[in-house]
Amino acid sequence: MSWTESSLVFNLRDRQLVAMIDVAFTPADARPREITVVIDVLRATSTIVRALDAGYERVLCVPDLDAARALAGPGRVLAGERGCVRPPGFALGNSPADMDDPAGEELVLTTTNGVPAILHAATLSPVVVAAGLLNLEAVVDAVRGADVQLLCAGTNGRPAFEDVYVAGRIAARLPGAPTDAALIARAVAQSQASPHGALAASANAGVLVAAGLEDDIGDCAQEWVSRVVPRVSAVLHGVAHVEADSEELPLDTILCSHTVAP
Ligand code: MLT
Repeated sequence: MSWTESSLVFNLRDRQLVAMIDVAFTPADARPREITVVIDVLRATSTIVRALDAGYERVLCVPDLDAARALAGPGRVLAGERGCVRPPGFALGNSPADMDDPAGEELVLTTTNGVPAILHAATLSPVVVAAGLLNLEAVVDAVRGADVQLLCAGTNGRPAFEDVYVAGRIAARLPGAPTDAALIARAVAQSQASPHGALAASANAGVLVAAGLEDDIGDCAQEWVSRVVPRVSAVLHGVAHVEADSEELPLDTILCSHTVAP
């Protein structure tokens, strides 16, 4: 990494290295960084938090429907969506409430934007975690003091309002030097009166309502109800293995790279 790309900035007044807090509004905006926090609050990262909280040992994030079906087997539950709807043959959709009462140890998850964002983040950062409002405080505690990129999954390559809102909420709580993108996200967060209002104002909320999934908006808008920090532990043959770190993590613990196998 060159000096200009360095994720640390030198504060001339204090003569201290301070962490940079950055936001990528879409996966295409993301850069190599020490830690990337992926946000798809409606609904993939909220669903991952709830799945790990409910007792799944890991979530296997796979890029497409065929790859998900190829992983089907004992102890595995297929979940996901296309167009917000549960794919044919899948046991579960992408609703957080679908994750309660696990029927296996591993959740095989494929979604349109959130899962690809996690897989992309794993190519850019040695440490990748997933965040929503559900685990906002736990993620802040886990990454505090580090150089952090908040990656908004967005929708089909475009920014999603609700993801930028959550990025702004997290950015406002992290110490460090915010980039202009982080300042923009913080301004978006400050403009909203409530988490539910922010999520409900988004275009993606409208899609969920049209699909009869409006309860998911309220489920994803709950704040700080989970201490789970979903973290990519390995990327094996194109599948991101996401497991729970449920304690407040010192940085020397969290800053271990995930395993990668082609
Ligand atoms: C996604 O990954 O695109 C979203 O989670 C879509 C959804 O709300 O199911």
